[in-house]
Amino acid sequence: MRAVVARAAAAVDAARLGRRHLELASIGAIGETGLNREALTDADFRARDLVLSWAAARGYRVLMDGIGNTFIRRPGRNEALAPVVTGSHIDSQPAGGAYDGAFGVLAACEVLEALDDAGIVTERSVEAVIWTNEEGSRFQPTTMGSAVFAGRLPLDQALRASDTAGITVATELDRLFKRMPAVGRREFGFPFAACVEAHIEQGPILERSGIPIGAVMAIQGLRWFTVRVTGETGHAGTTPRVARRDALMAAVAMVQRLTELMADPADVVRFTVGRFEVLPNSPNTIPSDVLFTVDFRHPDAGVLARLGDQVASTCQANALGCTVSVEETLDAPPTVLDADVTERIRRVTAEIGLAQMDIVSGATHDAKYVALTCPTGMIFIPCRDGVSHTVLEYAEPEQMVAGARVLAGVVASLAME
Ligand code: GLV
Ligand code: MN
Ligand code: MN
Repeated sequence: MRAVVARAAAAVDAARLGRRHLELASIGAIGETGLNREALTDADFRARDLVLSWAAARGYRVLMDGIGNTFIRRPGRNEALAPVVTGSHIDSQPAGGAYDGAFGVLAACEVLEALDDAGIVTERSVEAVIWTNEEGSRFQPTTMGSAVFAGRLPLDQALRASDTAGITVATELDRLFKRMPAVGRREFGFPFAACVEAHIEQGPILERSGIPIGAVMAIQGLRWFTVRVTGETGHAGTTPRVARRDALMAAVAMVQRLTELMADPADVVRFTVGRFEVLPNSPNTIPSDVLFTVDFRHPDAGVLARLGDQVASTCQANALGCTVSVEETLDAPPTVLDADVTERIRRVTAEIGLAQMDIVSGATHDAKYVALTCPTGMIFIPCRDGVSHTVLEYAEPEQMVAGARVLAGVVASLAME
């Protein structure tokens, strides 16, 4: 087994990985380094075309499920066995970077080709996956494709999700399926033997520690809410205070009280209001409607429950005469990843001669849903200054190669069993 791991890892082609990273990063590029490739946009479709062109060049079969999750299959000796799967996402934040998600997909493609190049015939098939709409910026919630795949989000609910222009997931998926008539279909929940996702850390721990590989033990939990506040519009110069139902004043009071609720001297709670929309958005008109989102995360399920359960009541208690609705769009508990896969990541990393450390993920990942269906692990690599979800995101080419080598070794060893 050690020989197979070493051969698979050594066959990762640094030049190919680097070239493909630049090619993929050019689709939806903003500025020198950034990326705007939100889910199910034309840029997302073109990025999929590019990845599938690599698959076609190797003769790999491509399958897609009903939410657009895309699987590229390199057959093993025994096609009847459940495959070992690796991958991530290629959608991005509206002003994101070229590594979040993309690295995991590039590394997955590299694994398939490295196995070919090393002449390794695996027992199980190996698949690279692109999960649909991991980011959740255009369509809520985040990790939509893997949630539907794992049966944690009803397909019809996902299909109804709409962006700020009122375009639904269903409409965009229709366009995707029409673009790819030749792609085979796969059912949700198709059994995997194991899954491994490679990703940039998106935080500062590996870089600060000077360690190239993180073996991810757990992913913290998160809850998402969409709050809609409805008041009454009117003239800014003439409407007396008593006659006002100002949706923005109410929303500001809610955010203030939520900030107090989430205050944590230990700095473990993560609380973010990332979207704030005001109507009619005119300087001299009282705001009638506000929509804002809450992203709340914690590694402890008890804290997630205790604080998260107070979000709706805190908003209601600060309505200032307006009408409030609070919709919970995501409730994902903390995930402990598979101990055996994580141990295998440690072992392979050591065999390749790289240093590693255990780490808990602050960011969320499709792996948390896949972990409900099969033994699942994650490999992290460092990113510069620990920043992500910004155009400044960056990982060194050598760090990507190191992560891809560990991934190749882990996947090869899993696929031989
Ligand atoms: C993933 O994009 C996250 O929000 O953690
Ligand atoms: Mn990601
Ligand atoms: Mn992200």
